[in-house]
Amino acid sequence: MTELLKLDHINVDIPIGGGFLKPKVLLQAVHDVSLTVSKGETLALVGESGSGKSTLGYVVAGLRKQTAGTVTFSSERNADDSRPPVQVIFQDPFSALDPRMMVGEIIAEPLRLRGVDSEERLKRAVEVLGQVGLSPEAARRYPHQFSGGQRQRIAIARALIAEPEMIVADEPLSALDVSIQSQVLNLLDDIKQQHGISYIFISHDLGVVRHLSDRVAVLYLGRLMEVASCDDLFNTPSHPYTQALLAAVPRIGKGRRKKEQILKGEIPSPLAPPSGCVFHTRCPRAQELCRKERPALEPAPGRATQLSACHFKD
Ligand SMILES: Nc1ncnc2c1ncn2[C@@H]1O[C@H](COP(=O)(O)OP(=O)(O)OP(=O)(O)O)[C@@H](O)[C@H]1O
Ligand code: SF4
Ligand SMILES: [Mg+2]
Repeated sequence: MTELLKLDHINVDIPIGGGFLKPKVLLQAVHDVSLTVSKGETLALVGESGSGKSTLGYVVAGLRKQTAGTVTFSSERNADDSRPPVQVIFQDPFSALDPRMMVGEIIAEPLRLRGVDSEERLKRAVEVLGQVGLSPEAARRYPHQFSGGQRQRIAIARALIAEPEMIVADEPLSALDVSIQSQVLNLLDDIKQQHGISYIFISHDLGVVRHLSDRVAVLYLGRLMEVASCDDLFNTPSHPYTQALLAAVPRIGKGRRKKEQILKGEIPSPLAPPSGCVFHTRCPRAQELCRKERPALEPAPGRATQLSACHFKD
């Protein structure tokens, strides 16, 4: 598969606090993350709250600058093509849409910025509204006149009209009713099939991740714990943290839930991450070595494409 995105040793350090005689502290929101995404591939980012999923997604989308490391797009487009390669879909479709603008204008905004004339903009807006299952009349209404699920479709239409090569979807379903979630999920799936767009899909819902993604990256305190194909990750998780995440979901972890796999304790402060393996304060397998040496992200035994950062990986 053709590589579209390469992240190389990305760090995002956020300065916190500071003031009179008080030094600023650096919070490592993302630390030493290297990943690739192929054309048409969906990479899911999973991990508990605060693990750095959104921060990494925003770096990819250019909404946040990394402190160190490089982001490389191997676009197949011409050098003079002004279309930005990445669009973002946020969790809350209401705050993401300007309430004073008609939906047609909202959707066509990326085209307006590129200097496309108003007639062509309306034509394209109606086209993408159709692609996300909304009628042409929707173009003349305002965001508050739509339900949450419809608003998320509008946000998806706005991303689509810009013809991105990649969409970063940050918890795009979690603000929606469960009954609507599967419709929007199917829409994202259809878009992937039809347009060959790559996704970075951020979600807490491992059921959804299993359904939609090709590969999964597991983050903990801003570090990669495991990167594997969706099948390998769910069938034969290598890292103790991945195993604990899966065991916590009854529908997925069924039959696999062992006492030692239940996550205990609180997530440590990201301002003072544990030494060695950052997971050692909660890991049932932790040994002295784990406190001293950071494990490298390396293939699990006998599984070349399943990477796991653990001294005692499965
Ligand atoms: N603007 C900011 N100022 C201070 N700290 C921040 C900021 N943005 C992120 N952080 C911190 O960086 C870390 C990673 O945050 P991030 O939002 O990327 O996590 P997340 O995995 O998306 O979490 P969630 O699942 O809750 O959305 C957290 O410790 C968070 O508190
Ligand atoms: S390196 Fe040690 S602490 Fe970290 S996950 Fe592996 S066994 Fe647990
Ligand atoms: Mg987030």
